[in-house]
Amino acid sequence: MSKVTVVGAGNVGATCAECIARAEVCNEVVLVDIKENFAEGKALDQWQTAPINYFDTRVTGSTNDYTKTAGSDVVVITSGIPRKPGMSRDDLISTNAKIVKSVTENVIKHSPDAIIIVVSNPLDVMTYQAYLTSQFPSHRVLGMAGILDTARYRAFLASELNVSPKDIQAVLMGGHGDTMVPLPRYTTVAGIPVTELIPADRLEAIIERTKNGGGEIVKLLETSAWYAPGAAAAQMVEAIMKDSQRIFPCCAWLTGQYGINELYLGVPVKLGRKGIEQIIELKLNEEEMALLHQSAAAVREVSEVLSKIS
Ligand code: NAI
Ligand code: 2OP
Repeated sequence: MSKVTVVGAGNVGATCAECIARAEVCNEVVLVDIKENFAEGKALDQWQTAPINYFDTRVTGSTNDYTKTAGSDVVVITSGIPRKPGMSRDDLISTNAKIVKSVTENVIKHSPDAIIIVVSNPLDVMTYQAYLTSQFPSHRVLGMAGILDTARYRAFLASELNVSPKDIQAVLMGGHGDTMVPLPRYTTVAGIPVTELIPADRLEAIIERTKNGGGEIVKLLETSAWYAPGAAAAQMVEAIMKDSQRIFPCCAWLTGQYGINELYLGVPVKLGRKGIEQIIELKLNEEEMALLHQSAAAVREVSEVLSKIS
């Protein structure tokens, strides 16, 4: 029997669980939350959509009882506090690091072979926290940010060019923060380089909007986004469960790729049943490489805060 656990039944976790259930990529989705009865309630409500939305995946909930998560193939960690207006993702670090650490300890006790996908912010550093705590091989601990950030970039481009978002392909690298690096040279619209379809200043404005895409939603909703983040994490689960070898930008442990060593950072990877099957090394030009290294330096600075608080 295949099982996926989603820890944190809040906005992102519940959305993610629902997307996974509807995609029918496992037999059971277990939602876990620390808040009494919260995960059970959300799971029951979602299960009652099964006859309407036509899926078989059992959705169950648990208040912090990890025995129910035993033998999970994939665990998505979304537990933690989200951003409020005026907060950066990095402001969440000490609270969320403690939560991610304790959740990871519980997860690995019952699912020693799982692949862990971290969503909690600050993303790159929380993924590192889960890696340190689990001591799993790095191909089994990864973070979700790049799919969300490229989805924002692709959605903005689709609106600007009045084309289907399905036709827009893009690569984006770096940390999940203002230093992320969207790559116009690797952005195409049905195979056509985007630079042939859009003036440089408009493209630059879209890149800037993408970098601030999380903050734009925090301003509107007074908390962070959840539909796209939940769907993005579910897309990673689907690629893993189906062993589909899809290529996505994900937060991965680098050991010298792009000249960056011992750091979790967003890069294109291939996803399959082993988790990260391959880290893809693009031939970045000098300017792109400089931006990536700037982003790596920003993530490293926050990662160092982690060692002081843990
Ligand atoms: P939320 O507040 O709606 O849900 C978080 C849930 O985690 C709550 O239900 C809370 O009870 C639960 N929780 C807290 N401590 C727990 C513990 N020890 N064990 C189990 N559950 C626990 O927040 P939301 O909007 O779902 O965001 C979750 C996290 O995801 C935040 O850190 C947010 O910043 C991050 N995020 C990351 C994104 C990314 O691209 N990586 C995008 C959007 C959000
Ligand atoms: C987002 O990008 C805040 O990380 C969250 O929406």
